[in-house]
Amino acid sequence: MQLALTRPDDWHLHLRDGAALTAVLPWSARQFARAIVMPNLKPPVTTVAMAAEYRARILAALPAGASFAPLMTLYLTDSTSPAEITKAVASGFVKAVKLYPAGATTHSDLGVTRIARVYGVLAEMESQGLPLLAHGEATDPAIDLFDREKAFIDATLVPLIARFPRLRVVMEHITTADAAQFVAASGPNIAATVTAHHLLYNRNALFQGGLRPHWYCLPVLKRERHRQALLAAVASGNPRFFLGTDSAPHATRAKEAACGCAGCFTAHAALELYAEAFEQANALDKLEAFASFNGPDFYGLPRNTGSVILEKTPTPVPDVLPYLPGDSLTPLKAGETLAWKMRS
Ligand code: DOR
Ligand code: ZN
Repeated sequence: MQLALTRPDDWHLHLRDGAALTAVLPWSARQFARAIVMPNLKPPVTTVAMAAEYRARILAALPAGASFAPLMTLYLTDSTSPAEITKAVASGFVKAVKLYPAGATTHSDLGVTRIARVYGVLAEMESQGLPLLAHGEATDPAIDLFDREKAFIDATLVPLIARFPRLRVVMEHITTADAAQFVAASGPNIAATVTAHHLLYNRNALFQGGLRPHWYCLPVLKRERHRQALLAAVASGNPRFFLGTDSAPHATRAKEAACGCAGCFTAHAALELYAEAFEQANALDKLEAFASFNGPDFYGLPRNTGSVILEKTPTPVPDVLPYLPGDSLTPLKAGETLAWKMRS
């Protein structure tokens, strides 16, 4: 069996910087024409000037002959100014602003401490049409980890959208039935990205025969009923759900540690993993729009030309991939077999 798709984009990707960037970028550039690049570097990408420099480093790290456009984002902080939003829109290469509630995840310590502190910036984004990308998890340590997405929707997102009804919002990497229902019931300015790993795994994967750090990411995997709701959301064909891998590299030893880092690396086989999930949901006919149309349509960008071909062929995943000197990268499904293969 074979499947041709219009060349897809990744609407949520962590590329890191320096040698890590050089190591992981070819995986994404091989499959995707464009990616929304996350700004959670150390220090974070908080200004258009920093985004311009980071973009140049990404372009310089591309393998010869690759055609891949990084779409940049700004990391929202309590002190981001509305003027920076005007600059971002004028730049042409900054396509969104990322909201990390402070403390929610990897490198989020400089994120927003109280949403009211960024109302001025959000008002500017609403009027200029620049999307807000939300890491949708409440950060109150008293809230159960598995309930933090729903808590974010109820306590932060609903009031936010009421205050800024025309703000374009992407709930990133949704993990729950609550988020899927919320987005489905919202207006045309509210969308969501869905990762392959949240479509393929429930929280049992974290404890399959022992502690499995390579399945640990944030927001953490949820119960099976939530996974089923995500599959139903993407299988519905609703154009406000689209592909965002959240592929996030961490060195193998940083994952296999007493306090392991959050993030699943899926860029080595992103399309193959999505194809497996869509096949499971009997929705392979919905994969192309999810991967290649819904994202650009929401962002107001042209759809790509050209295509990629997926073949139903058992394909082994290596145990590790090259990463940094002295450090390997463990891809999702390391040592296992993929059902699909993208033709090179
Ligand atoms: O699992 C995650 N990893 N979730 C995030 O939100 C951040 C990401 C990373 O940067 O490693
Ligand atoms: Zn992410």
